[in-house]
Amino acid sequence: MKTMRATVFHGVNDIRVEEVERPHAGIGEAVIRVTLTTICGTDLHILRGEYSVKPGLVIGHEPVGVIGELGPGVTGYQVGDRVLVGAITPCGQCRACLSGHLSQCGHGGGYDALGGWRFGNTINGAQAEYLLVPHAQANLAKIPDALTDEQVVLLSDIASTGFSGAESGNVRIGDAVVIFAQGPIGLCATAGAKLMGASLIIGVDGNEHRLAMARRMGADVVLNYREVDVVAEVKRLTDGGADVAIEALGTAQTFESALRCLRPGGTLSSLGVYSGKLQMPHDAFASGLGDHRIVTTLCPGGKERMRRLLSLVQSGRFDPTPLITHRFSLDEITEGYRLFGEQADGVLKVAIKP
Ligand SMILES: NC(=O)c1ccc[n+]([C@@H]2O[C@H](COP(=O)([O-])OP(=O)(O)OC[C@H]3O[C@@H](n4cnc5c(N)ncnc54)[C@H](O)[C@@H]3O)[C@@H](O)[C@H]2O)c1
Ligand SMILES: [Zn+2]
Ligand SMILES: [Zn+2]
Repeated sequence: MKTMRATVFHGVNDIRVEEVERPHAGIGEAVIRVTLTTICGTDLHILRGEYSVKPGLVIGHEPVGVIGELGPGVTGYQVGDRVLVGAITPCGQCRACLSGHLSQCGHGGGYDALGGWRFGNTINGAQAEYLLVPHAQANLAKIPDALTDEQVVLLSDIASTGFSGAESGNVRIGDAVVIFAQGPIGLCATAGAKLMGASLIIGVDGNEHRLAMARRMGADVVLNYREVDVVAEVKRLTDGGADVAIEALGTAQTFESALRCLRPGGTLSSLGVYSGKLQMPHDAFASGLGDHRIVTTLCPGGKERMRRLLSLVQSGRFDPTPLITHRFSLDEITEGYRLFGEQADGVLKVAIKP
Protein backbone atom coordinates (compact mmCIF):
# COMPACT_ATOMS: atom_id res chain seq x y z
CA MET A 1 0.00 0.00 0.00
CA LYS A 2 1.38 3.39 -1.00
CA THR A 3 0.96 6.10 1.61
CA MET A 4 1.11 9.89 1.79
CA ARG A 5 1.33 12.62 4.43
CA ALA A 6 -2.02 14.23 5.19
CA THR A 7 -3.73 16.45 7.77
CA VAL A 8 -6.28 14.30 9.56
CA PHE A 9 -9.11 15.59 11.75
CA HIS A 10 -9.36 13.44 14.89
CA GLY A 11 -11.71 15.56 16.98
CA VAL A 12 -12.25 19.06 18.33
CA ASN A 13 -8.89 20.85 18.55
CA ASP A 14 -7.11 17.70 17.42
CA ILE A 15 -5.62 17.53 13.94
CA ARG A 16 -2.46 15.61 13.11
CA VAL A 17 -0.22 15.18 10.09
CA GLU A 18 0.16 11.46 9.52
CA GLU A 19 0.64 8.70 6.94
CA VAL A 20 -2.59 7.63 5.27
CA GLU A 21 -3.42 5.57 2.20
CA ARG A 22 -2.75 7.30 -1.10
CA PRO A 23 -5.82 7.67 -3.36
CA HIS A 24 -6.15 6.25 -6.88
CA ALA A 25 -8.29 7.55 -9.71
CA GLY A 26 -11.42 5.60 -10.64
CA ILE A 27 -13.79 6.27 -13.52
CA GLY A 28 -14.21 10.01 -14.09
CA GLU A 29 -11.73 10.87 -11.34
CA ALA A 30 -8.23 12.29 -11.20
CA VAL A 31 -5.51 12.32 -8.58
CA ILE A 32 -3.40 15.41 -8.26
CA ARG A 33 -0.11 15.80 -6.45
CA VAL A 34 -0.80 18.87 -4.36
CA THR A 35 1.88 21.53 -4.82
CA LEU A 36 0.23 24.28 -2.74
CA THR A 37 -2.78 24.65 -0.49
CA THR A 38 -3.94 26.90 2.34
CA ILE A 39 -6.13 27.03 5.46
CA CYS A 40 -9.63 28.53 5.35
CA GLY A 41 -11.71 30.18 8.07
CA THR A 42 -14.09 27.27 7.58
CA ASP A 43 -11.28 24.84 8.56
CA LEU A 44 -11.10 26.75 11.83
CA HIS A 45 -14.85 26.19 12.31
CA ILE A 46 -14.13 22.45 11.82
CA LEU A 47 -11.16 22.44 14.18
CA ARG A 48 -13.18 24.21 16.89
CA GLY A 49 -16.16 21.87 16.51
CA GLU A 50 -18.45 24.61 15.14
CA TYR A 51 -18.90 22.65 11.90
CA SER A 52 -18.69 18.90 12.24
CA VAL A 53 -16.97 16.41 9.98
CA LYS A 54 -16.17 12.74 10.59
CA PRO A 55 -13.04 11.89 12.58
CA GLY A 56 -10.45 10.36 10.27
CA LEU A 57 -11.19 12.79 7.44
CA VAL A 58 -8.35 14.59 5.65
CA ILE A 59 -9.31 18.27 5.74
CA GLY A 60 -8.63 21.27 3.48
CA HIS A 61 -10.39 22.36 0.30
CA GLU A 62 -8.08 24.72 -1.65
CA PRO A 63 -5.89 22.70 -4.03
CA VAL A 64 -3.29 23.58 -6.63
CA GLY A 65 -1.37 20.68 -8.09
CA VAL A 66 -0.10 18.55 -10.92
CA ILE A 67 -2.14 15.74 -12.41
CA GLY A 68 -0.69 12.42 -11.23
CA GLU A 69 -3.36 9.98 -12.41
CA LEU A 70 -6.33 10.24 -14.73
CA GLY A 71 -9.18 7.74 -14.44
CA PRO A 72 -11.03 6.33 -17.46
CA GLY A 73 -13.32 8.82 -19.15
CA VAL A 74 -11.40 12.00 -18.31
CA THR A 75 -10.30 13.56 -21.59
CA GLY A 76 -8.32 16.59 -22.71
CA TYR A 77 -5.75 16.39 -19.90
CA GLN A 78 -2.31 14.85 -19.52
CA VAL A 79 -0.50 13.51 -16.50
CA GLY A 80 1.80 16.38 -15.50
CA ASP A 81 -0.64 19.21 -16.33
CA ARG A 82 -0.75 21.94 -13.66
CA VAL A 83 -4.29 22.45 -12.45
CA LEU A 84 -6.34 24.53 -10.07
CA VAL A 85 -9.40 22.88 -8.54
CA GLY A 86 -12.21 24.85 -6.97
CA ALA A 87 -13.14 24.21 -3.34
CA ILE A 88 -16.56 23.18 -4.57
CA THR A 89 -16.68 20.37 -7.12
CA PRO A 90 -19.94 20.34 -9.08
CA CYS A 91 -20.67 17.29 -11.23
CA GLY A 92 -22.28 19.36 -13.97
CA GLN A 93 -24.96 16.72 -14.52
CA CYS A 94 -27.34 16.53 -11.57
CA ARG A 95 -30.60 18.34 -11.03
CA ALA A 96 -28.99 21.13 -8.99
CA CYS A 97 -26.15 21.66 -11.48
CA LEU A 98 -28.47 21.66 -14.47
CA SER A 99 -30.75 24.13 -12.68
CA GLY A 100 -27.79 26.48 -12.41
CA HIS A 101 -27.09 25.87 -8.71
CA LEU A 102 -23.64 24.34 -9.18
CA SER A 103 -22.50 24.82 -5.58
CA GLN A 104 -25.52 22.90 -4.32
CA CYS A 105 -24.60 19.95 -6.53
CA GLY A 106 -26.40 16.95 -5.08
CA HIS A 107 -25.08 13.43 -5.07
CA GLY A 108 -27.06 12.46 -8.13
CA GLY A 109 -30.57 13.69 -7.72
CA GLY A 110 -31.48 15.87 -4.80
CA TYR A 111 -30.62 19.21 -3.34
CA ASP A 112 -28.47 18.52 -0.27
CA ALA A 113 -27.38 21.93 0.98
CA LEU A 114 -23.56 22.07 0.71
CA GLY A 115 -23.73 18.99 -1.54
CA GLY A 116 -21.10 20.44 -3.83
CA TRP A 117 -18.64 21.10 -1.01
CA ARG A 118 -16.96 17.73 -0.79
CA PHE A 119 -13.21 18.23 -0.12
CA GLY A 120 -12.50 18.13 3.59
CA ASN A 121 -16.23 17.88 4.27
CA THR A 122 -17.64 14.65 2.88
CA ILE A 123 -14.50 13.27 1.15
CA ASN A 124 -10.78 13.57 1.85
CA GLY A 125 -9.38 17.05 1.33
CA ALA A 126 -6.42 19.02 0.06
CA GLN A 127 -4.09 19.44 3.07
CA ALA A 128 -2.21 16.37 1.88
CA GLU A 129 0.37 15.24 -0.66
CA TYR A 130 -2.26 13.77 -3.00
CA LEU A 131 -5.93 14.53 -3.59
CA LEU A 132 -8.64 12.55 -5.35
CA VAL A 133 -10.70 14.90 -7.53
CA PRO A 134 -14.25 13.69 -8.23
CA HIS A 135 -16.05 14.69 -11.44
CA ALA A 136 -12.62 15.58 -12.81
CA GLN A 137 -13.89 16.52 -16.25
CA ALA A 138 -15.84 19.42 -14.74
CA ASN A 139 -13.28 20.48 -12.16
CA LEU A 140 -9.70 20.57 -13.47
CA ALA A 141 -8.75 24.07 -14.63
CA LYS A 142 -5.39 24.23 -16.40
CA ILE A 143 -3.12 26.92 -14.99
CA PRO A 144 -1.45 29.21 -17.56
CA ASP A 145 2.35 28.74 -17.47
CA ALA A 146 2.87 32.41 -16.64
CA LEU A 147 1.08 32.10 -13.28
CA THR A 148 2.73 30.78 -10.12
CA ASP A 149 1.05 28.56 -7.53
CA GLU A 150 0.91 31.47 -5.08
CA GLN A 151 -0.87 33.62 -7.64
CA VAL A 152 -3.66 31.08 -8.02
CA VAL A 153 -4.14 29.18 -4.76
CA LEU A 154 -6.55 31.73 -3.29
CA LEU A 155 -8.82 31.58 -6.33
CA SER A 156 -10.13 28.15 -5.34
CA ASP A 157 -12.14 29.44 -2.42
CA ILE A 158 -11.68 32.89 -0.96
CA ALA A 159 -11.52 34.88 -4.19
CA SER A 160 -14.35 32.87 -5.74
CA THR A 161 -16.43 33.32 -2.58
CA GLY A 162 -15.54 36.95 -1.96
CA PHE A 163 -16.26 37.99 -5.55
CA SER A 164 -19.54 36.08 -5.44
CA GLY A 165 -20.63 38.26 -2.52
CA ALA A 166 -20.51 41.24 -4.88
CA GLU A 167 -21.94 39.28 -7.83
CA SER A 168 -24.88 37.81 -5.88
CA GLY A 169 -25.50 41.22 -4.36
CA ASN A 170 -25.85 42.41 -7.94
CA VAL A 171 -23.50 45.35 -7.41
CA ARG A 172 -24.05 47.88 -10.18
CA ILE A 173 -21.82 50.57 -11.64
CA GLY A 174 -21.97 53.52 -9.28
CA ASP A 175 -23.23 51.59 -6.24
CA ALA A 176 -22.24 52.27 -2.64
CA VAL A 177 -21.19 49.01 -1.01
CA VAL A 178 -20.29 48.25 2.60
CA ILE A 179 -18.45 45.06 3.50
CA PHE A 180 -18.59 43.78 7.07
CA ALA A 181 -15.32 42.12 8.05
CA GLN A 182 -12.08 42.36 6.15
CA GLY A 183 -10.73 38.90 6.72
CA PRO A 184 -9.59 37.07 3.58
CA ILE A 185 -13.19 36.60 2.39
CA GLY A 186 -14.20 40.20 3.06
CA LEU A 187 -11.04 41.51 1.40
CA CYS A 188 -11.90 39.56 -1.74
CA ALA A 189 -15.47 40.85 -1.53
CA THR A 190 -14.00 44.34 -1.44
CA ALA A 191 -11.93 43.57 -4.54
CA GLY A 192 -15.06 42.06 -6.11
CA ALA A 193 -17.13 45.19 -5.45
CA LYS A 194 -14.45 47.22 -7.18
CA LEU A 195 -14.38 44.86 -10.17
CA MET A 196 -18.18 45.13 -10.41
CA GLY A 197 -17.98 48.91 -10.66
CA ALA A 198 -18.98 50.25 -7.23
CA SER A 199 -18.13 53.90 -6.81
CA LEU A 200 -17.99 53.92 -3.00
CA ILE A 201 -16.63 50.93 -1.10
CA ILE A 202 -16.61 50.93 2.70
CA GLY A 203 -14.64 48.21 4.50
CA VAL A 204 -15.38 47.43 8.16
CA ASP A 205 -13.11 45.55 10.56
CA GLY A 206 -11.46 46.02 13.94
CA ASN A 207 -7.96 45.05 12.91
CA GLU A 208 -5.75 47.87 11.59
CA HIS A 209 -3.58 45.53 9.46
CA ARG A 210 -6.69 44.29 7.71
CA LEU A 211 -8.14 47.76 7.26
CA ALA A 212 -4.88 48.80 5.58
CA MET A 213 -5.16 45.79 3.28
CA ALA A 214 -8.81 46.69 2.59
CA ARG A 215 -7.62 49.98 1.12
CA ARG A 216 -5.15 48.07 -1.05
CA MET A 217 -7.97 45.79 -2.27
CA GLY A 218 -10.16 48.73 -3.26
CA ALA A 219 -11.91 50.21 -0.21
CA ASP A 220 -12.34 54.00 -0.43
CA VAL A 221 -13.20 54.33 3.25
CA VAL A 222 -12.38 51.99 6.12
CA LEU A 223 -14.23 51.94 9.43
CA ASN A 224 -12.98 50.42 12.65
CA TYR A 225 -16.09 49.07 14.36
CA ARG A 226 -14.37 49.44 17.74
CA GLU A 227 -14.11 53.19 17.24
CA VAL A 228 -17.12 54.37 15.26
CA ASP A 229 -20.85 53.74 15.05
CA VAL A 230 -20.62 51.93 11.73
CA VAL A 231 -24.32 52.02 10.82
CA ALA A 232 -24.59 55.77 11.43
CA GLU A 233 -21.37 56.44 9.54
CA VAL A 234 -22.42 54.33 6.55
CA LYS A 235 -25.77 56.13 6.42
CA ARG A 236 -23.98 59.47 6.52
CA LEU A 237 -21.42 58.54 3.84
CA THR A 238 -24.06 57.09 1.51
CA ASP A 239 -26.70 59.71 2.02
CA GLY A 240 -29.22 57.35 3.57
CA GLY A 241 -27.97 53.81 3.08
CA ALA A 242 -25.80 51.48 1.02
CA ASP A 243 -27.08 49.82 -2.14
CA VAL A 244 -25.42 46.57 -1.14
CA ALA A 245 -24.10 45.33 2.21
CA ILE A 246 -21.91 42.25 2.18
CA GLU A 247 -21.64 40.17 5.35
CA ALA A 248 -18.32 38.31 5.49
CA LEU A 249 -18.05 37.14 9.08
CA GLY A 250 -21.03 35.01 10.10
CA THR A 251 -22.35 36.59 13.31
CA ALA A 252 -25.83 37.77 14.24
CA GLN A 253 -24.41 41.18 15.09
CA THR A 254 -22.77 41.84 11.70
CA PHE A 255 -25.79 40.39 9.90
CA GLU A 256 -28.03 42.84 11.72
CA SER A 257 -25.68 45.79 11.20
CA ALA A 258 -25.42 44.97 7.49
CA LEU A 259 -29.21 45.08 7.21
CA ARG A 260 -29.39 48.36 9.10
CA CYS A 261 -26.93 49.94 6.66
CA LEU A 262 -29.15 49.32 3.63
CA ARG A 263 -31.22 51.88 1.83
CA PRO A 264 -34.81 50.79 1.06
CA GLY A 265 -34.59 48.32 -1.79
CA GLY A 266 -30.98 47.47 -0.96
CA THR A 267 -29.48 43.99 -0.89
CA LEU A 268 -27.80 42.12 1.93
CA SER A 269 -25.41 39.62 0.39
CA SER A 270 -24.34 37.13 3.03
CA LEU A 271 -21.16 35.03 2.85
CA GLY A 272 -20.49 34.19 6.50
CA VAL A 273 -20.97 30.72 7.94
CA TYR A 274 -23.28 31.09 10.95
CA SER A 275 -23.73 28.97 14.03
CA GLY A 276 -26.18 29.26 16.91
CA LYS A 277 -29.21 31.50 16.58
CA LEU A 278 -29.75 34.43 14.24
CA GLN A 279 -32.19 36.75 15.99
CA MET A 280 -32.89 40.40 15.37
CA PRO A 281 -35.37 43.15 16.10
CA HIS A 282 -37.97 43.82 13.41
CA ASP A 283 -36.86 47.40 12.83
CA ALA A 284 -33.49 46.17 11.51
CA PHE A 285 -35.22 45.37 8.24
CA ALA A 286 -38.03 47.96 8.24
CA SER A 287 -40.41 45.38 9.76
CA GLY A 288 -40.34 43.54 6.46
CA LEU A 289 -41.52 46.53 4.39
CA GLY A 290 -38.20 47.79 3.05
CA ASP A 291 -38.12 45.84 -0.23
CA HIS A 292 -34.80 44.44 0.92
CA ARG A 293 -33.28 41.37 -0.67
CA ILE A 294 -31.28 38.91 1.38
CA VAL A 295 -29.14 36.49 -0.61
CA THR A 296 -26.65 33.85 0.50
CA THR A 297 -23.91 32.30 -1.58
CA LEU A 298 -21.75 29.22 -1.29
CA CYS A 299 -18.41 29.51 -3.06
CA PRO A 300 -18.84 28.96 -6.81
CA GLY A 301 -16.66 26.13 -8.16
CA GLY A 302 -16.06 24.19 -11.36
CA LYS A 303 -13.43 24.63 -14.05
CA GLU A 304 -15.19 27.43 -15.92
CA ARG A 305 -15.39 29.57 -12.75
CA MET A 306 -11.69 28.86 -12.12
CA ARG A 307 -10.80 29.73 -15.74
CA ARG A 308 -12.50 33.10 -15.34
CA LEU A 309 -10.68 33.83 -12.09
CA LEU A 310 -7.35 32.73 -13.58
CA SER A 311 -7.95 35.15 -16.46
CA LEU A 312 -8.51 38.01 -13.99
CA VAL A 313 -5.12 37.35 -12.43
CA GLN A 314 -3.40 36.87 -15.78
CA SER A 315 -4.78 40.15 -17.10
CA GLY A 316 -3.54 41.98 -14.01
CA ARG A 317 -7.01 43.07 -12.89
CA PHE A 318 -6.71 41.20 -9.60
CA ASP A 319 -3.61 40.33 -7.61
CA PRO A 320 -4.26 37.98 -4.68
CA THR A 321 -0.62 37.59 -3.66
CA PRO A 322 -0.52 40.33 -0.98
CA LEU A 323 -2.99 38.19 0.99
CA ILE A 324 -0.45 35.39 1.47
CA THR A 325 1.51 36.51 4.51
CA HIS A 326 3.06 33.29 5.84
CA ARG A 327 4.39 30.00 4.48
CA PHE A 328 4.64 26.55 6.09
CA SER A 329 5.44 23.00 5.03
CA LEU A 330 2.69 20.39 5.42
CA ASP A 331 4.48 18.97 8.46
CA GLU A 332 4.28 22.41 10.11
CA ILE A 333 0.59 22.89 9.35
CA THR A 334 -0.56 22.83 12.97
CA GLU A 335 1.64 25.88 13.54
CA GLY A 336 -0.10 27.47 10.54
CA TYR A 337 -3.48 26.70 12.11
CA ARG A 338 -2.39 28.26 15.39
CA LEU A 339 -1.16 31.46 13.77
CA PHE A 340 -4.18 31.73 11.45
CA GLY A 341 -6.60 30.98 14.28
CA GLU A 342 -5.09 33.57 16.61
CA GLN A 343 -4.80 36.13 13.80
CA ALA A 344 -1.28 36.64 15.13
CA ASP A 345 1.61 38.42 13.43
CA GLY A 346 -0.53 40.23 10.83
CA VAL A 347 -1.53 36.92 9.23
CA LEU A 348 -4.06 36.90 6.40
CA LYS A 349 -3.55 33.61 4.57
CA VAL A 350 -0.90 30.94 5.03
CA ALA A 351 0.50 28.98 2.09
CA ILE A 352 1.05 25.28 2.86
CA LYS A 353 3.53 23.37 0.70
CA PRO A 354 3.20 19.56 0.87
N1 LIG B 1 -19.95 31.33 1.77
C1 LIG B 1 -18.88 30.57 1.57
O1 LIG B 1 -18.83 29.79 0.60
C2 LIG B 1 -17.69 30.68 2.45
C3 LIG B 1 -16.45 30.22 2.01
C4 LIG B 1 -15.34 30.36 2.83
C5 LIG B 1 -15.49 30.95 4.08
N2 LIG B 1 -16.73 31.38 4.49
C6 LIG B 1 -16.95 32.03 5.78
O2 LIG B 1 -16.68 33.41 5.66
C7 LIG B 1 -16.40 33.94 6.95
C8 LIG B 1 -15.14 34.81 6.89
O3 LIG B 1 -14.01 34.02 6.58
P1 LIG B 1 -12.55 34.61 6.74
O4 LIG B 1 -11.60 33.53 6.41
O5 LIG B 1 -12.42 35.91 6.03
O6 LIG B 1 -12.58 34.86 8.33
P2 LIG B 1 -11.52 35.49 9.37
O7 LIG B 1 -11.90 34.91 10.68
O8 LIG B 1 -10.13 35.35 8.89
O9 LIG B 1 -11.84 37.05 9.35
C9 LIG B 1 -12.87 37.60 10.07
C10 LIG B 1 -12.63 39.09 10.24
O10 LIG B 1 -13.72 39.64 10.94
C11 LIG B 1 -13.28 40.73 11.74
N3 LIG B 1 -14.32 41.05 12.70
C12 LIG B 1 -14.60 40.48 13.89
N4 LIG B 1 -15.68 41.05 14.47
C13 LIG B 1 -16.11 42.00 13.60
C14 LIG B 1 -17.19 42.93 13.63
N5 LIG B 1 -18.04 42.98 14.64
N6 LIG B 1 -17.34 43.77 12.56
C15 LIG B 1 -16.48 43.72 11.52
N7 LIG B 1 -15.43 42.85 11.44
C16 LIG B 1 -15.25 42.00 12.47
C17 LIG B 1 -11.98 40.19 12.28
O11 LIG B 1 -11.14 41.24 12.75
C18 LIG B 1 -11.40 39.46 11.06
O12 LIG B 1 -10.57 40.31 10.29
C19 LIG B 1 -16.30 32.74 7.88
O13 LIG B 1 -17.55 32.57 8.54
C20 LIG B 1 -16.08 31.59 6.92
O14 LIG B 1 -16.49 30.35 7.44
C21 LIG B 1 -17.81 31.27 3.69
ZN1 LIG C 1 -13.15 27.67 2.57
ZN1 LIG D 1 -24.16 18.24 -9.77
